[in-house]
Amino acid sequence: MAVATLHPHDAPAPLAARRYPVAMSIGRLVRRALGSYEQKAADRYRAFFLDTDALADTLASSVRDRDAPLRVLELGCGEGLVATSLLHRLPQATMLGVDIADDPGRNFTGDRTRATFRSCTVGQLVADDTPAFDLVVVSDVLHHIPDADLRGVVSDVVSLLAPGGLLAIKEWERDGSLAFRSGWFSDRVVSGQEVRFFDGAELRRLVADLAPHAAVVAEHRIAPRRCNLLLVWQAPVSSSSAGPAATADATPTP
Ligand SMILES: C[S@@+](CC[C@H](N)C(=O)[O-])C[C@H]1O[C@@H](n2cnc3c(N)ncnc32)[C@H](O)[C@@H]1O
Repeated sequence: MAVATLHPHDAPAPLAARRYPVAMSIGRLVRRALGSYEQKAADRYRAFFLDTDALADTLASSVRDRDAPLRVLELGCGEGLVATSLLHRLPQATMLGVDIADDPGRNFTGDRTRATFRSCTVGQLVADDTPAFDLVVVSDVLHHIPDADLRGVVSDVVSLLAPGGLLAIKEWERDGSLAFRSGWFSDRVVSGQEVRFFDGAELRRLVADLAPHAAVVAEHRIAPRRCNLLLVWQAPVSSSSAGPAATADATPTP
């Protein structure tokens, strides 16, 4: 497979054009054909790349007091798989899942009294003066965002962090492995989307640029693939604040 197209600075297409650049991707055709088995098949397919329970365990372990009434945002929540796993582990948390796709959270199976889903951009949340969040999760979203929009999106995300709040970014880290290439194939060919992948250093630089006072407090690899890189930043705790319950263990794990 030619991998030259993986260069992170490939020219981006406008956002709308990148959502479904082919008339009907292989993935959409297969999903449509699966009918009522679609959800189970989609979960199994996702599990080949990411163990969402392991991700949720790790995210929850970043939170010091899991029984606190945390406000959680998931940007790019998709159908709600990660939201389901995560909310289950944070019994007092409330969650807002947003996505630019229609009908976000449609397969969420958790407690609907604690979860809200909205089809919008993070910029709209900022424009609406949405109160800040103790934990913001961005899982496998950044590589779908065009270069021209990326800094604006991350900057909006950072602006929604409460003092001491945690920003958790999970990305499919670019490397030369077969696993990485299979993920690229899945996004680019099966789903038919334009993608641009990062390595850990690029992610750290991006957030350091836009949130210079936030500190990386944890780094994890999430099963079953080493490409699943999870980085967690913590916003500074203001002197006037006692600090939220969402305080990460300050020791990064390799
Ligand atoms: C690979 S899915 C990840 C879904 C979920 N976070 C997970 O880890 O299972 C990427 C999602 O990001 C969404 N997305 C892409 N660009 C976005 C943006 N600028 N704002 C919000 N969501 C976005 C897509 O619509 C899609 O649902």
